[in-house]
Amino acid sequence: MIVRTIEGGVEVLAPAKLNLFLEILGKRADGYHDLESLMVAVDLHDTLTFADDPTGAISLTCDDSTLPTGPANLVVRAAMALKAASGTDRGASIHLHKAIPAQAGLAGGSSDAASTLVGLDRLWGLGTASGELDRLAATIGSDVAFFLRGPVAICRGRGELVEPWPLFEPLHFVLICPPVGVSTAAVYRDLIPPVAPRGIGGMLEALELGDRPRLGRELFNRLQAVAERLEPSLGAVGAALAGLGPSLDGHLMSGSGSAYFGLAGDRDAAEDAARRLVTLGLGRVRVVTCDP
Ligand code: C5P
Repeated sequence: MIVRTIEGGVEVLAPAKLNLFLEILGKRADGYHDLESLMVAVDLHDTLTFADDPTGAISLTCDDSTLPTGPANLVVRAAMALKAASGTDRGASIHLHKAIPAQAGLAGGSSDAASTLVGLDRLWGLGTASGELDRLAATIGSDVAFFLRGPVAICRGRGELVEPWPLFEPLHFVLICPPVGVSTAAVYRDLIPPVAPRGIGGMLEALELGDRPRLGRELFNRLQAVAERLEPSLGAVGAALAGLGPSLDGHLMSGSGSAYFGLAGDRDAAEDAARRLVTLGLGRVRVVTCDP
């Protein structure tokens, strides 16, 4: 997340995330699932701008007309939550420029919400304690707290318990966003938690050693098979990435889908993979980087 004070307010760049590892540990009494995930923030950003509204009102405009701009939008929920928790009488007019596709497993809405907490905390001069921002984030969605702590972290609980993790060199990816979205709730509904969950240790060791080929082999997402059953057209996306062979170290679906990524050795390799994938017409193709 990049936060800047600009003329008339605050601007925040809200990154997308990828899950390099996502295992489900079990279903909880509250209906959520306990999970263990390695998440990385990448340089595909939504842009939010925040300007003071002296009337005290919270309002949102968005350049994507398919998105709600009322309390159904996580940006408005985050703004209301911070306003209520802080007791401030300040308001804000917020503009959201969307670049992260929805229902893609990239947590764009959650990142926008985290950026709203940070952007409004700056605009309103609140100096909210980081533990309080974490608490508010968790009330808005399972992935929101990650964006307060990225760019790399292990997420546990229902996703809201975030342990930042070191990264020693940038990771480069080719990203495909198919035109179909997948509902996170639908994927979790169809999931049968594993009897013996896979451990995250191999992935963490690969990261620590900077062993990218091994990192590629350790990529894992328990939700992928479920999403591919719900939306069979996604199988072709994974197959296309597999078809690039050893030019990628590995590939995976992110979160509950529908976006897929391939891990590349460097930026040139990611761009080369992107050129080859574009010709297949499976979705929007981009090169993205997680920069420590
Ligand atoms: O927390 P969030 O609103 O992002 O979650 C969306 C839906 O995904 C939840 O309603 C729930 O059905 C499911 N979910 C889950 N376990 C998690 C995270 C999400 O079952 N750890």
